[in-house]
Amino acid sequence: MNRRSLIKTGLTVATATTVPPLAWSARPGRIREHTFIAQPTRLQLLGSDYPYTDVWAFNNLLPGPVLRATQGDTVRVKFRNRLAQPSTIHWHGIRLPNALDGVPGITQAAVKPGEEFLYEFAMPDAGTYWYHPHVSTYEQVGRGLYGTIIVDEKVPPDVDQDVTWVISDVKLTREAAIAPGFQSLHDAAHAGRLGNIVLVNGQRSPADLDVRAGQRIRIRILNAASARIFRLKFHGPQPLVVAFDGHPCPPFPLTESILFSPGNRLDLILDCTGSPNASFEVEDEFFPAMRNKIARIQYSSRSAQALRAPFKGLLPNQLYEPVLAGAESVKMVIEGGALSNKATREHIWLVNGKGNDHGSHMDSHGAAPKPLYVFEKGCTVRCLIDNKTAWFHPMHFHGVVLRERLPNGQWGPFKDSTLVWPFKTQEIAFVAESPGDWMIHCHVSEHHHAGLMATFRVADICKTPAATQPSA
Ligand code: C2O
Ligand code: CU
Ligand code: CU
Repeated sequence: MNRRSLIKTGLTVATATTVPPLAWSARPGRIREHTFIAQPTRLQLLGSDYPYTDVWAFNNLLPGPVLRATQGDTVRVKFRNRLAQPSTIHWHGIRLPNALDGVPGITQAAVKPGEEFLYEFAMPDAGTYWYHPHVSTYEQVGRGLYGTIIVDEKVPPDVDQDVTWVISDVKLTREAAIAPGFQSLHDAAHAGRLGNIVLVNGQRSPADLDVRAGQRIRIRILNAASARIFRLKFHGPQPLVVAFDGHPCPPFPLTESILFSPGNRLDLILDCTGSPNASFEVEDEFFPAMRNKIARIQYSSRSAQALRAPFKGLLPNQLYEPVLAGAESVKMVIEGGALSNKATREHIWLVNGKGNDHGSHMDSHGAAPKPLYVFEKGCTVRCLIDNKTAWFHPMHFHGVVLRERLPNGQWGPFKDSTLVWPFKTQEIAFVAESPGDWMIHCHVSEHHHAGLMATFRVADICKTPAATQPSA
């Protein structure tokens, strides 16, 4: 048992701040209560000159209401399902007890139409997270059920504006209706369902951001698309990347473009060093011949305000640091998809040689599936993901925060998913921190529900030395 791996990070930075740690713990977290109702509604996604679109949304909003709290607060969300099909809410990236993770058939029974479920959990980490159903995500997220979670730092950084861009896409017909044909065999075996309209905050992109020269802007970006990977490029002044998937990283300037997969979040600090009246675009250049404009940053005519001192970074979250000595090593081999002779109609994707039933819109068949791995609580896991397919897979791990092995051999910042390139391998490391069965899946929803998923069990036992055990 690697008790040593339970050493927490962040202490050195925490003591370097001017805020005494005692003042933090002296303030008890508040309880914040919300009701989230998933239901069909009609919205004008293309603007006031265009027809309404029938969507599914939380509280008639797309994206859904922002769940905002301060680090250490507890949220109590009453979820009411007014869809014609079962649903749940998953709190993507929030470290919470397994029973509240929102995975049907594994952590809870799906919430039937007309029924309710109460989610109550604390917010241990500051940062940008999100929520979405975990039933038929290709359709429930694809029709509009998603929203942002913002957990404010106890001492937030000093900025002039704190803006969020929820980027997504939607496939609309000429009448602005959502195109039918979710989870087609073609989409499931290729790159997923790509929309024909890019949305930012539920409106056709680009978003407009009005700034004054000299301002400091915090920009939180979430990719809520069911399948689309973006490659974001900031023209003009370069922002600093300050957090991945909610968790602070050492700041670095975004000089090139950055890949941004479904489920990912990025926190940026942009110092507006352009001149009054300037304007700059943020583009998606994943398909260089078909660029999407994501945002337009428009400077007002007002004279520049004084710039702040260079941004030093956010305080890190208190996460479990992987301890590589004595870590447990496992492998995950991904096969299948179009262009593969392993794929069949029944098993489009295979994980370690086995397929799931892609006919299921759920994550299991009532009874929890046999976990792919069993780890002892507290142990460090090294996982080598071997993508033997022609497709990108943003692999998301519930219940842990992982680090990626970078090409230079170093370990990268904390994240909750890793993008594995076609025919490439990617090693990750994480601490199995909380007991229960947790999902691993590709966040291209059509891949996930066509079988690119598994679970791992964190066993609440403490015995010597760690070895992968067959499931009980
Ligand atoms: Cu955002 Cu299991 O996913
Ligand atoms: Cu998740
Ligand atoms: Cu995938």
